[in-house]
Amino acid sequence: MIQTKSAPLSESKMASTQKQRIGVLTSGGDAPGLNAVIRAVVKAAGRRGWEVLGFNDGYEGLLEPVRYRVLDSANTTGILTLGGTILGTVNKGRFAAKVGAGEVKQIDPAVLMAAKETCSELGLSGLVCIGGDGSLTIAQQLFEIGVPVVGVPKTIDNDLEATVATFGFDSAVVTATDALDRLHSTAESHRRVFVLEVMGRHAGWIAVHAGIAGGGDVILIPEIPWTFEGIVKKIQEREARGRHFTLVVAAEGAKLPSGKVVTRDATAKNAEIKLGGVGEYIAEELQRRTQKECRFVVLGHLQRGGAPTTFDRLLATRFGVHAVQLIADGTFGHMVCLRPPDTVNVPITQAIHKIRTVPPNGDVIRTARALGIGFGDD
Ligand code: F6P
Repeated sequence: MIQTKSAPLSESKMASTQKQRIGVLTSGGDAPGLNAVIRAVVKAAGRRGWEVLGFNDGYEGLLEPVRYRVLDSANTTGILTLGGTILGTVNKGRFAAKVGAGEVKQIDPAVLMAAKETCSELGLSGLVCIGGDGSLTIAQQLFEIGVPVVGVPKTIDNDLEATVATFGFDSAVVTATDALDRLHSTAESHRRVFVLEVMGRHAGWIAVHAGIAGGGDVILIPEIPWTFEGIVKKIQEREARGRHFTLVVAAEGAKLPSGKVVTRDATAKNAEIKLGGVGEYIAEELQRRTQKECRFVVLGHLQRGGAPTTFDRLLATRFGVHAVQLIADGTFGHMVCLRPPDTVNVPITQAIHKIRTVPPNGDVIRTARALGIGFGDD
């Protein structure tokens, strides 16, 4: 049952107010594994005898009308494998801290204070904020006014600084690789060029990992400038070798040779600009230049939905347990992260405002080039 701050707590809830109490919320775009974190937080906190309040719709749930529910083993059972978030999430509105590429906004102090008041009134001794760059920026702003936050990094784009991996990324790569596997046979049968547009706003991790794992021929990412001539060259090389089809994987944020990104809605208010359309643009141009039949597929939010992979379930669970430990230790303003073989924690400030992009000369790109995969730059 969802409680509101103004409504009195039920008797059983009143009785439990003596317990140490923490909050948890999910913010920003969803990612497979969010529910696995929530479950881990509830389990680890429960074993310490703590009560967990789950806030609805990200940070918005901290504002009037405040919305939360007590999370326990009964209402979180079975969510380990569930995509999305049982708490709901938003990536726009009063708490939008990022409205453009790297553009960070100070949240209205009155809004931050209202959220702080909710945490104090509910007696929270810690608040687990699960989110990406923008959401952790908000967590930091709350921490600076005295809210005892701990951060858990999340994004399918895998572009957060300080952590080697975020949960959700592996699941997204599996979906994109599966799409490439399926496109492979149809592209070959019809001797077509297929452009698969995947997510990746500022970083091309999904495109690169899925491109290699799914046998792509050309990978286009924001980090490596490319030209149409470079892609056409690769298609022609393949034709000359009797390979009459080509798979191109393009990150949605891969800039056109003009330096511009392709957007669906450049007028978004208090939210990030919606990217999308680069796959279609590239397919049309390639058809014009090669006279080959070129098609495109936009994978979009299919990459964000569905059950988390084993890797993501495990990582999300480790993050959730570590976050509870941070609260127990009183280590606030920190974010958990993966530094194999361990999960560790760093100040949230080390993770925000810096996007972790694909190093153009790094091992993964060198591996791809050694296989003959093109990046449209030669
Ligand atoms: O940041 C993760 C991400 O998946 C980006 O790759 C993408 O541009 C964005 O979210 C889409 O978000 P929305 O849910 O607003 O469409």
